[in-house]
Amino acid sequence: MKTILTGLRPTGNLHLGHYFGATINYVKLQNDYEFFLEIADVQALTDNFNDPDKVRRNVFEITKDLLACGLDPKNVHFFIQSKVPEIAELTVFYSNLVTVARLQRNPTVKSEIAQKKELFGNDGESITYGFLGYPVSQAADITAFKGELVPVGEDQLPLLEQCREIVRKFNSIYGDTLVEPDAYLSENKRIKGLDGNDKMGKSLGNAIYLVDDDETISKKIMGAVTDPNKIKKDDPADPDKCMVYYYHKLVNKDNTENICSECKKGARGCVQCKKELISAMQEFLKDFRERRKVYDENPELVEKILEEGTNVAKERAKDTMKDVKHAMKIDY
Ligand code: TRP
Repeated sequence: MKTILTGLRPTGNLHLGHYFGATINYVKLQNDYEFFLEIADVQALTDNFNDPDKVRRNVFEITKDLLACGLDPKNVHFFIQSKVPEIAELTVFYSNLVTVARLQRNPTVKSEIAQKKELFGNDGESITYGFLGYPVSQAADITAFKGELVPVGEDQLPLLEQCREIVRKFNSIYGDTLVEPDAYLSENKRIKGLDGNDKMGKSLGNAIYLVDDDETISKKIMGAVTDPNKIKKDDPADPDKCMVYYYHKLVNKDNTENICSECKKGARGCVQCKKELISAMQEFLKDFRERRKVYDENPELVEKILEEGTNVAKERAKDTMKDVKHAMKIDY
């Protein structure tokens, strides 16, 4: 069985964008691979070092969200990055194999720095050593478990390429030791936000979270962007300019055709259409909510899942560390 590894920064709850973009695939993949799922708390601290409470809280929030999406701890090793010190150790060893210039050119790092002007300053003078180096740490995340496939979104490809370069360099200097991972790109596309933005994102304030309650969901959907040319209830409209229709397509597939033709004919008012979407969304979230409730009421279950997954991860990382130290001639 091949080994899959992926990670998530625990900085917030999962929203529909995460779900349709990535989580839905993890649920499918979990039966066919040995699956390591890292809750990347150390990586989250690289840009949230000033908010440790947020990171700690979200370690549990994101684990509960993932479990409630249908990831089964029997199939998936959930583990906490900071509990596997070999990852930090590997990061130090790999840091010799990558130049500062290469990290500065990494497109993912560059775009994140641009987005975080308030944290790093316009001139980049406040960029920390840790943040610049997080792709090295991510290479350690993957290689510590000899991950062969890494399911990631397109935005993460430069990080995977960086990992592959480090692996090649390591193996060419110290001998064949590490496994070069491949990206496992999903065909899922990015989910748009409630405001019609191409991306649903926390910082954009346009997301529906899986943990949102009925009232929050109603409010958000009532405020979603519709075809601006539709003024009156029975004006015909273009569903492709409407976010309500867009989400109907995701969570109310059976009724989509009907909704589309009624909307085009002017036989469907936006308020009614939004109400139907609210009901469909509640139905869609039903299983998630049921599962999530169990974990909310029994936090010790979540702790146990993390502990067991972390134990498996630790064993695997220890094996890799033995090989790495031997290859580097530091196995005293
Ligand atoms: N960088 C990823 C993100 O921000 C999270 C991550 C951490 C990850 N470690 C990883 C992804 C290892 C894939 C493999 O979403």
